[in-house]
Amino acid sequence: MTPPNPSDGSTDSDAPNIEVVPLTAAFASVASALHAKGFDDAWESDAIIRLLDVPGAFGILAYRPGDTSKNAEDQPLGFVLVQAVLDEAEINTITVAPDARRMGVGRALLMAVEERLQQGDVNRILLEVAVDNDAAIALYQQHGFAEVGRRKGYYARQGGDKIDALVLERLL
Ligand SMILES: CC(C)(COP(=O)(O)OP(=O)(O)OC[C@H]1O[C@@H](n2cnc3c(N)ncnc32)[C@H](O)[C@@H]1OP(=O)(O)O)[C@@H](O)C(=O)NCCC(=O)NCCS
Repeated sequence: MTPPNPSDGSTDSDAPNIEVVPLTAAFASVASALHAKGFDDAWESDAIIRLLDVPGAFGILAYRPGDTSKNAEDQPLGFVLVQAVLDEAEINTITVAPDARRMGVGRALLMAVEERLQQGDVNRILLEVAVDNDAAIALYQQHGFAEVGRRKGYYARQGGDKIDALVLERLL
């Protein structure tokens, strides 16, 4: 895959042909642009590179392959960042471009994460999700995650409000 251009953010309304590749430092700016569309606290490329540099960390990038006959470039769709330590892994972030949501990109990213983790010793995936993030909670529940805890006031919203996080777990 050539580094895609996230700047226009456009996707067709058709369901995308979803491919996944390892998210390397070369794609950090692509991931940073995607992150800015998904969260208030956008992560800079440097921060993403630092996260990828930690032992046990990896990322997956989803994209729609371009079509040279139509002069269409690869289109970044979403990414996920994971940190594995011994037999546990944590999903640090996952986001899908707003105009590519509800097309199975999030599901494809989680499946790619599990496929990768099953090659190692990890048998448990954990994550935190804001209690009001209905889309993400629905994605995780559909994917077999279950609630194992709650962190009070874990997230700070713009304007200062605090919101609880659910801790979700999936056993592999
Ligand atoms: C959460 C997020 C990653 C989901 O990605 P997505 O590509 O839209 O998810 P998918 O299309 O793979 O959805 C898979 C399933 O999850 C559930 N789901 C996803 N989005 C949903 C929504 N908005 N409402 C209800 N269910 C939803 C559905 O069960 C869906 O299956 P279906 O479409 O066959 O009904 C996406 O909404 C996003 O990027 N949000 C902003 C960033 C964010 O909040 N990340 C999570 C931080 S913890």
